[in-house]
Amino acid sequence: MNACQQLAITQFGQPSVLAMQTAEIPVPSDSQVLVRVAYAGVNPIDAKTRAGLGWAAQQNKDNLPWVPGYDIAGKVVKVGANVQELAVGERVAGFVGFPLAGGGYSEYVAVEADALSRVAKGVPLANAAALPLAGQTAWQALDKGQADENDRVLILAGAGGVGHIAIQLAVARRANVMASCSAANMAFVSGLGATAVDYHQAPLAEQIEPVDVLIDLMGGDIGIAALDCVKAGGRVVTIPTITADAVCEQAQLQGLEAEGMLVSPSVEQNNAMMAMLEAGQLQLHIAAQYPLSDGAKAHSDIEAGHTRGKIVLAVGSSE
Ligand SMILES: NC(=O)c1ccc[n+]([C@@H]2O[C@H](COP(=O)([O-])OP(=O)(O)OC[C@H]3O[C@@H](n4cnc5c(N)ncnc54)[C@H](OP(=O)(O)O)[C@@H]3O)[C@@H](O)[C@H]2O)c1
Repeated sequence: MNACQQLAITQFGQPSVLAMQTAEIPVPSDSQVLVRVAYAGVNPIDAKTRAGLGWAAQQNKDNLPWVPGYDIAGKVVKVGANVQELAVGERVAGFVGFPLAGGGYSEYVAVEADALSRVAKGVPLANAAALPLAGQTAWQALDKGQADENDRVLILAGAGGVGHIAIQLAVARRANVMASCSAANMAFVSGLGATAVDYHQAPLAEQIEPVDVLIDLMGGDIGIAALDCVKAGGRVVTIPTITADAVCEQAQLQGLEAEGMLVSPSVEQNNAMMAMLEAGQLQLHIAAQYPLSDGAKAHSDIEAGHTRGKIVLAVGSSE
């Protein structure tokens, strides 16, 4: 059997443009391993690209059908000639093909061995697949915002994929963390160690004392309104790329330091968070698991904008 199943974007549009396709199982190069994917993580960028929005869509518009997916977890089934660090049968996870190649929504993926983290026995592969892109975004945003011990840090969208990890990483840095969410997510967000602030109740700036750092996972008008929560001279990191310029311009007018960011794959950061997962110092919430062939449902959920934690696709045999 040299064939594998994948879920591909056949044209830009609604979730229904996602369709299963058959492809050849890739052959790993000397420095790669072949991973039989158990779970693929779903991220908002997958849905944006499917809709034809953003850089990955522009780059791949003449390259459809294109297989999205940047987060994978599974088992090594073949190793390239020069691979020393991984062996057949090992459980691995990683942030792959970002941003141009994608490819995670597939039963088999060939990946550079040094781009993968080992997954400890106690960590479910579904959780390992939910971690890479969201976890590294959370880590890098807190680094950029220099969120430190005793800083007051406000995280917008604390219940989402990036937000629920960012809360826990900021708490681990001993910051004083506040996070916005709806009433339905107050208990979830508080349980992660943040003071939950219901954004439906009143403008955030009326509900909390000024903060040192704003981690803006909403962008646009919501990110701009939240600038009023930041102390003079405070720091802002705005994550959604499409509105980053607008948020940064307004922040600068208000005397704040502001930056956008694009997450950059880091196996070291992934390894560190894997160790936290194993030690029970980081919890990942999986809102839903869908079979790969139901990826359209996962995209519809993500686009509704109220996912609690992460969504993963069950691709192949799990353990
Ligand atoms: N630049 C980069 O490299 C990069 C990397 C990763 C992600 N991103 C972007 O960052 C954003 C967040 O990603 P994500 O994966 O965390 O998204 P996500 O998981 O889809 O976020 C969903 C969460 O947003 C919350 N939410 C919706 N409206 C809200 C509001 N008005 N105020 C506060 N929370 C609200 C929802 O909570 P409630 O149900 O409680 O409202 C829900 O839990 C996306 O735009 C994504 O594309 C960018």
